[in-house]
Amino acid sequence: MSSESSHRREAAAVRRDIRIIEVGPRDGLQNESRPVPTATKIRFVNALSSAGFPEIEVSSFVHPKLVPQLADATEVFAGLEPAEGTVYSALVPNEKGLARALESGVRRIAVFTAASETFNRKNINAGIDESIERFTPVLDLAKDAGVSVRGYVSTAFFCPFEGEIPPEAVVRVVDRLFELGVDEVSIGDTIGAALPSHVERLIGVLTPPLDRIAMHFHDTRGTALVNVMASLEYGIRTFDASAGGLGGCPFAPGATGNLATEDLLFFLHGIGIETGVDAAAVTRASDIMEEAFGSPLPSRVRNAGAIVKGSSDGDGDGDA
Ligand code: HMG
Ligand code: MG
Repeated sequence: MSSESSHRREAAAVRRDIRIIEVGPRDGLQNESRPVPTATKIRFVNALSSAGFPEIEVSSFVHPKLVPQLADATEVFAGLEPAEGTVYSALVPNEKGLARALESGVRRIAVFTAASETFNRKNINAGIDESIERFTPVLDLAKDAGVSVRGYVSTAFFCPFEGEIPPEAVVRVVDRLFELGVDEVSIGDTIGAALPSHVERLIGVLTPPLDRIAMHFHDTRGTALVNVMASLEYGIRTFDASAGGLGGCPFAPGATGNLATEDLLFFLHGIGIETGVDAAAVTRASDIMEEAFGSPLPSRVRNAGAIVKGSSDGDGDGDA
């Protein structure tokens, strides 16, 4: 192969029209009632590493008694075989969580709050304003340590306790997080109840540049992909997804899995949008979890298999 053609290949390999943040190891496993051995989590993350994600959310440094499924965050980070070009992040709720994350060598964290007061109290034992105050020293310390910070706003459309959330309430929290110094905000449909009309209404009133907004759709009611479509039309370029469609929030009754990474890839690659993510590598990572659980994962594309039966291709890019 000539050096020119090999160069072209490298350039093609990293083309990303859309960034997909893989949150399966964190959001996917935090709600899991079946115990997952630390070694299995490490194999899962390392398998995901070969898929070419710009970021993988690995775990959470939250209270280990409240989320025992992720109590081994330190050990999982210690077992990572990092891939070049992938950032490995973790959820951090407070200074104590940040200290644990820094000890584990984490270079990107996510603080998380909500647009619903009631959900936030149940989730992190703080009101919205109080949680933002808690994040202030976390952001300062993270910046001093050269650690970048994402912010999450949960229950941005519906709350399982308060019902529909007005877009203005979301905008207020998004703006406060940017004032605090986060570099990106991920907007969560925590219980998977939003429709494209809700998504369009919210994105239409957001003030920050849309290249700093990510959308985080749970697929509880099967609307995640149409919500991605609506977000794309409005200019959103970053989406969170979870391998196999695992996921849910232990503090949000009724929340099921995230939009499955396989389903998102099938859709985006199928309509010609490049993600730089290798769908076959995601399938191999999901195989590890399916084998560990001994039952099928929720992803529809995964369960449907190849369009032409007997072919290994299922990512919608038209390759046989
Ligand atoms: P708290 O009880 O208010 O904390 O919990 P505290 O500061 O009062 O401390 C109480 C005790 O906890 C102390 O220990 C602390 O040291 C300890 P003691 O002195 O009593 O022995 N502690 C900790 N230990 C380890 N790591 C820590 C930590 N912090 C305090 N970080 C807290 C507040 C936020 C910690 C707690 O409520 C918590 O951990 N909540 C877990 C929330 C969670 O993980 N939720 C799921 C993730 S969010 C989500 O899924 C939504 C998302 O996906 C987007 C979407 O879908 O919308 C992101
Ligand atoms: Mg979530």
